[in-house]
Formats: sequence, structure tokens, C-alpha cells
Amino acid sequence: DDSGDSGKDGSGSASGLTTVSSGTLTVCSDVPYPPFEDFDETAESGFKGFDIDVVQAIADGLDLELAVKDSSFDALQSGQALNAGQCDMAASAMTITDERKAALDFSDGYYDSEQSLLVPEGSDIASIDDLDGKKVGVQQGTTGKSYTEENASGADIISFPSDAEMFQAIKAGQVDALLQDLPVNLDHQKAGGFEVVETYKTDEQYGLAMKKGNTALVDAVDEQLSTMRDDGTYDDIYNTYFST
Ligand code: ARG
Repeated sequence: DDSGDSGKDGSGSASGLTTVSSGTLTVCSDVPYPPFEDFDETAESGFKGFDIDVVQAIADGLDLELAVKDSSFDALQSGQALNAGQCDMAASAMTITDERKAALDFSDGYYDSEQSLLVPEGSDIASIDDLDGKKVGVQQGTTGKSYTEENASGADIISFPSDAEMFQAIKAGQVDALLQDLPVNLDHQKAGGFEVVETYKTDEQYGLAMKKGNTALVDAVDEQLSTMRDDGTYDDIYNTYFST
């Protein structure tokens, strides 16, 4: 019905924020990228993962509905999707970088990460120094791709649009190794048959990306992140996905 008394129409929610779809926080994410984002037919949003839980808590705190849209990571990290008004925010395990900050605004960091090298069990590749002449899969537009280009220049670097396609390629023997965010390579290791042989302390922090200049939303999101850290919500979400 559109009787209009829900507070979810017109000027929006109690937060007073203007969003691309009134009353809704529309979040773009490159899925699957477990444990951060994955499909889940049983979930109301259709998605699950660490990022999804974080943005659900933010939407709840801002009195907005959550809608998640599967998107291409490269279009998210370049600012293209947000500038085109496809979503209010990108939640996609996206590292805060100076280059991206030229095109996007970021929330405070919400997850510390690093890079890693995944190979099939029994591979003769034990470190990044063994990659000369080997095929290494990376994801288009990522910090892992830049890291590989800078530190394994003798490798045959093959760029894939998505992590799922990288993982498919190593399973099919089309690449010899994958260089990707550590938590995601650990998830691939868990699937069996592959091992993380090296990690790289790149001091990365994931941030939620918003359209450049949307200070009202950035401030509101940072306030929600800080509340979540204070009231234990952040730790609960963290422990759901990363408890040891
Ligand atoms: N953290 C890396 C970056 O920012 C990779 C993120 C890829 N995320 C994804 N959902 N596929 O470049």
C-alpha cells in the first residue's frame, strides 16, 4: 500500500538521510567473496557475510531498509557505480587507498587485512620469489593485482573479473597460484586441495565507500560504526566469521 504513513517515503527515514531509493540503504557488493559477502537464499536480503551483517546493523541504526546489489568490483573501486547512482554505498572488502580516495569517500576502517598466496597442495611454489614464468591469477582492480605487479614482475599475471572465476581457474589447473586477500584465500584453503603458502603484511584496512562529497552519509555511517564497536555488536559480528 502507499498510504504514506510509514516514514519510509518522501523525505526518508528518521535519520533524515537522502538515499538513492527513499527509506532504503542500497549497498553494492561484488559477490561471492566469502567470508565477507556471499549469496544466501534463506536470508531476507538474499545475502550473507561479515560485510552484509555490518551494513545490516548500520541500516538498522539509521532506520533504513537494506537492499544489496551484486556488482562488479572494478566498477565499485573506480567510483563508477556510486557516481552513476546505482547504490548509496559499496561494502565489498574494499581497501582504503589514496588512489580510490580521489574518486570515493570512505568510512573509518572496519577490518584489517593483508595479502596472501594460494597454491594447489603439493605445488613447488613456496613463495612469491618462485613465480617467475608461472601463471598467477588476480582480480581486476584489486590491491592484490597491484601487489603482484609490483612484487612478481616475472610472473604471467592473469586478471579475472571476479574471485569466483580465479578460484575456478586454479581448480581447472589454468593458473598456478592466486594472489588475493588473506581471509578469502583462507576460505579457499578450507574448501580443500589448496594452501596459503605466504602472507604479505600490506597493512590494509577495509572501508565502506560512498559517493565523493556525501558527507552526511559518511558521518552517519562512522557514527554507527563507532556505536557498534562500543555496544559489542561489532565483536559479535566479527566472532561469527573469524572466531579462532
Ligand atoms: N581488498 C581488495 C581490494 O580492495 C580486494 C577486494 C575484492 N572484493 C570483492 N568483494 N571481490 O582491492
